[in-house]
Amino acid sequence: MGVFDTAARTAGRARYAAAQGLRSAWYGAQMSAARRRASGFDRPGEPAFRPSKGTPDLAALRRAYVELFLKDRLNVEAGLYPAPSDVRLKDLPKALRSARAFREDVEEVDRRRLERNGTEIRQQIIDGHNRYPAYYLQNFHYQSGGWFTEDSADLYDTQVEALFTGTADAMRRAVLAEISRELKGRDQRGVSLLDVACGNGRFLSQVMQVYPRLMASGLDTYTDAARARLRPWKQVEILHDAAESMPIEDASLDMVVSIFLFHELPPRVRGQVVSEVQRVLKPGGLFILADSAQFGDYPALDGLLEYFPHGFHEPYYKNYLSWNANSVCEAAGLLPETRSLAFLTKISTFRRIS
Ligand SMILES: C[S@@+](CC[C@H](N)C(=O)[O-])C[C@H]1O[C@@H](n2cnc3c(N)ncnc32)[C@H](O)[C@@H]1O
Repeated sequence: MGVFDTAARTAGRARYAAAQGLRSAWYGAQMSAARRRASGFDRPGEPAFRPSKGTPDLAALRRAYVELFLKDRLNVEAGLYPAPSDVRLKDLPKALRSARAFREDVEEVDRRRLERNGTEIRQQIIDGHNRYPAYYLQNFHYQSGGWFTEDSADLYDTQVEALFTGTADAMRRAVLAEISRELKGRDQRGVSLLDVACGNGRFLSQVMQVYPRLMASGLDTYTDAARARLRPWKQVEILHDAAESMPIEDASLDMVVSIFLFHELPPRVRGQVVSEVQRVLKPGGLFILADSAQFGDYPALDGLLEYFPHGFHEPYYKNYLSWNANSVCEAAGLLPETRSLAFLTKISTFRRIS
């Protein structure tokens, strides 16, 4: 490597560190402010929560956080995806609006947490309420509007980034790295990819920025937001449907991606979704499953994972922490291939065998 290359790499790393540092500080400050305004995870009169798996080791948490960004930057340098351009002056007004909306919502989230009310959404008028199974009609995370309203789709990105101190996009990019590896040497125009539970389309739009000719689709209930985000790519279709019964032909897709969905599902539904993924994938197709780290992934942080369902409405998360994705996928005909950690997210890949 020549002197100019080394200088360019050093400058790139410095820009990356400054931008991601700023981003982390921005979301970290929002979370700290929210926690100051809220009553805390422990309800008044209740004893302080003690995780059964011990006090989390904060040094281990910091190490995992730094490793996430080191790996993310190395992925950029390896050419798996371009450097993120997510800290731009022109986005400041939107960032300020989102921060304000997040701040204004804290009281409502806190009220639901105090009341332990994770099903308020069932009292709201939702178009086609009866289309959704009961487990879906909940205010996951205690968030306003559950998975249904435009406002909740709008707030979602800030809520997740604040929760993870600005690491959510970097964790999702670990999935983009898997997609890039899979696409190596292939013509993207002939490759079909589905993002199951694509949320408001954030990740899918990032995929499309890197692979604009990909035959992509997404599936969720936040469909208006996702459709608006994916509008620049005419071939992208967003389906308003359930992951456990996807309106997609058998053996029609090359890749299926799912990010932060499985911990939100009752165990029975997880198995159904895995079977659906197997059904829609072509033989040889790849399933990329990204979700929360589980017990044993970072033994020193097992206790930290227990805090999540204590502080947020996460009715199926405790069960998910010990859920064995490998055995469920293998039984469905999806062979486990790789596993890696990106801070608090685990990325597992599976291949449809026949
Ligand atoms: C935690 S969010 C994850 C969203 C997005 N994948 C991301 O990276 O942030 C979970 C998403 O799963 C969707 N979801 C939950 N259960 C679902 C189901 N049975 N079928 C389809 N989508 C579902 C919700 O609407 C929500 O957008």
